[in-house]
Amino acid sequence: MKVIVCNNSEEMSKVAAQIFADRIRKKPNIVLGLATGGTPVKMYKELIRMHKEEGLDFSKVVSFNLDEYLGISGNHHQSYRYFMDTNLFNHININKSNTHVLNGKAKDAAAECKTYEDAIKKAGGIDIQLLGIGGNGHIAFNEPGSPKDSRTRIVDLTKKTIEDNARFFVDVNEVPKQALSMGNGTIMEAKEIVLIADKTSKADALSKSIEGPVTEQVPASLLQAHKNTTFVIDTDAAVKLKKKYESPKATASKGGCCCK
Ligand code: GLP
Repeated sequence: MKVIVCNNSEEMSKVAAQIFADRIRKKPNIVLGLATGGTPVKMYKELIRMHKEEGLDFSKVVSFNLDEYLGISGNHHQSYRYFMDTNLFNHININKSNTHVLNGKAKDAAAECKTYEDAIKKAGGIDIQLLGIGGNGHIAFNEPGSPKDSRTRIVDLTKKTIEDNARFFVDVNEVPKQALSMGNGTIMEAKEIVLIADKTSKADALSKSIEGPVTEQVPASLLQAHKNTTFVIDTDAAVKLKKKYESPKATASKGGCCCK
């Protein structure tokens, strides 16, 4: 597991975008795993800039999103489908039919989850998965205690997650109490994983995930057992880490990635 500590949120976004752009250039028909939330917005803006100014080509790219709220449709402004369309897909040349987001309004939600797992397998698995992290250490909507081998399924959201995500809704009571989410097991099968985090509100979850024991109580700590995971975080999110980690410049000088 690699940890890159960036100077700020802007640099975090650029470093993560450069990793994704590099993988897309190397494999134009790559299968991306994508995430929502406030954290990836600037990274998606950078990918849009690369598309417009540098010709980064998404025409053959396939994507699968991590999760979706249960009970709301893709047209709902707080749905993750709407988020992806407005923050990324509408601004790049990706074929919308190659973009997959779980259907929160599916009549049979359990069947929707099974179909999603099958579609990921049929696509050859996820080449590179983007993750954010919840303040309680969750990844996607795998709340503390989610089994490490869990698959895409219906999940109950914790009070903390509902409160954390209330900022996107008019009222906390509007936040759905359940979601459809890839499981920890689904995520761990991605060939490469990049977790991004900024803000001091993530510092506690990151210190437990990176330097604490591997435990289902902190789902992001499970990533310690993944062969190709990079945490790209900023100095605010890194305040509780005890060990020293690389800066983007140090990584670049070794031929890794990234910041110009
Ligand atoms: C939600 C999403 C997660 C995301 C988390 C953090 O719970 N399901 O995938 O990582 O929010 O969001 P933010 O980036 O807004 O802090």
